[in-house]
Amino acid sequence: MITPKMAKAINKQINAELYSSYLYLAMSAWAHTQNLAGFAKWLDLQAKEENSHAMKFLHYLFDQGAEAALDGIAKPPAAWATAKAMFKNVLEHERKVTGLIHDLADLAVKERDFATANLLQWFVNEQVEEEANAGLVVAKLDMLGESKTGLLMIDKELGKRA
Ligand code: FEO
Repeated sequence: MITPKMAKAINKQINAELYSSYLYLAMSAWAHTQNLAGFAKWLDLQAKEENSHAMKFLHYLFDQGAEAALDGIAKPPAAWATAKAMFKNVLEHERKVTGLIHDLADLAVKERDFATANLLQWFVNEQVEEEANAGLVVAKLDMLGESKTGLLMIDKELGKRA
């Protein structure tokens, strides 16, 4: 059994993961309008991954006999100036999520909740990967500058995500 304080914090994180999913879905929809099918596919898969993060936390609450308290999900932005601006937003967002995960890990240690601390270790590692993936795309977009050919090359590369 986890403490009510920990359960509340995890419920809040479920909302943050679902918002991430919704944000990436909005980005995917925008990429479609820009004919960037590769970006759209990458973001669509990322949205699904964020949903799976929410589910991982939700099922953890079930396993711990804690109650789920699903809150409303905030409305994400609908458009971005450029694909680069959008991906910078992905990176910023992931950095913010990393901060939230670290806060949760900190709380788990303070609560002497070692089971939750163990679960959160998976998320700590996952965030390293998420930031690295988004950071690499931002770096490539920075490199190509205003090149449309370069943008299409990256679009093709992102479309290969399985
Ligand atoms: Fe669930 Fe991208 O962090």
